Amino acid sequence: MAAVTADQTAQAGADRPEGADEALEAVFDAAVAAEERIEPRDWMPDAYRASLVRQMAQHAHSEIIGMQPEANWITRAPSLRRKAILMAKVQDEAGHGLYLYSAAETLGTGREELLDKLHAGRQRYSSIFNYPTLTWADVGAIGWLVDGAAITNQVPLCRCSYGPYARAMVRICKEESFHQRQGYELLLALSRGTPAQHEMAQDAVNRWWWPSLMMFGPPDDASAHSAQSMTWKIKRHSNDELRQRFVDICVPQAESLGLTLPDPDLRWNEERGQHDFGAIDWQEFHEVLKGNGPCNEQRLTQRRRAHEEGAWVRDAAVAYAQKHTAKPGQAAPAHAAPAHAAPRATAGNGEATA
Ligand SMILES: [Fe+2]
Ligand SMILES: [Fe+2]
Repeated sequence: MAAVTADQTAQAGADRPEGADEALEAVFDAAVAAEERIEPRDWMPDAYRASLVRQMAQHAHSEIIGMQPEANWITRAPSLRRKAILMAKVQDEAGHGLYLYSAAETLGTGREELLDKLHAGRQRYSSIFNYPTLTWADVGAIGWLVDGAAITNQVPLCRCSYGPYARAMVRICKEESFHQRQGYELLLALSRGTPAQHEMAQDAVNRWWWPSLMMFGPPDDASAHSAQSMTWKIKRHSNDELRQRFVDICVPQAESLGLTLPDPDLRWNEERGQHDFGAIDWQEFHEVLKGNGPCNEQRLTQRRRAHEEGAWVRDAAVAYAQKHTAKPGQAAPAHAAPAHAAPRATAGNGEATA
């Protein structure tokens, strides 16, 4: 965008004339209103930066924590084909985390800092990943419903006002679309299989349907960040709008699958041209958010352990990078600093390194 850059702002220094911030904010507001992208070096309000970091961190954390429930089934996939698909999918989720941590780094917040906050329980990830995967059919239900809900949420984020986030979402959505289809195809195979397989598919859908609807967040009138995010064009549609869209997409898909959505109040409303659906148990949602879901503790413990066990990989990556950036004739340091003590270089002024 042709807005004022952070460098220009810095040059203006502390003795910026009174009203300068208002002028910068006016340029920012005009850029957002004109659907221009805000880029890392552009001036932006502190609250916009903080809101984006919060959202991208939560999103990145959800991607990597979300690897756990499905990875649980890799060794037990019923065929080589299913195993290869599931491994590719779980690996994609790691990649999504990577793009999003990198996008957050463009705002001057390093990956190590965000991971520390996740491990300390100071930043959240999507509540959906605190539910267990009890049967193989859960892999299908997650693909169809959880990745499906993620796409519904994320397609509008491809038009988010912050450039690096929007661009990361374009690729993520393409991959999520594959995830959703593999889940649907898996459930279809089970649904058309033996009565026991059909029952397993139905049971998985029964357990994942309501938590999937909760993925869109609290109702609009109880959503703390929604209104401001929409003004900044980070968010394009309200939680309730997206939830409704998801329900309307899922109903005909469930019919084609030969499966029932577990909601006796679900019916077409001719007048609204949308489906009515039953009340969501927000009490359950808040309990899971508070840490009282079936798997909260297990997920965080496993994440911390994976991080500790991966320390040698980060150390090796730093040592390798240092070896290759050393000038000819100049010996690489004998012992590289541990990666966890030396996060990826991020300029203090919030400049991008990703
Ligand atoms: Fe993902
Ligand atoms: Fe996914």
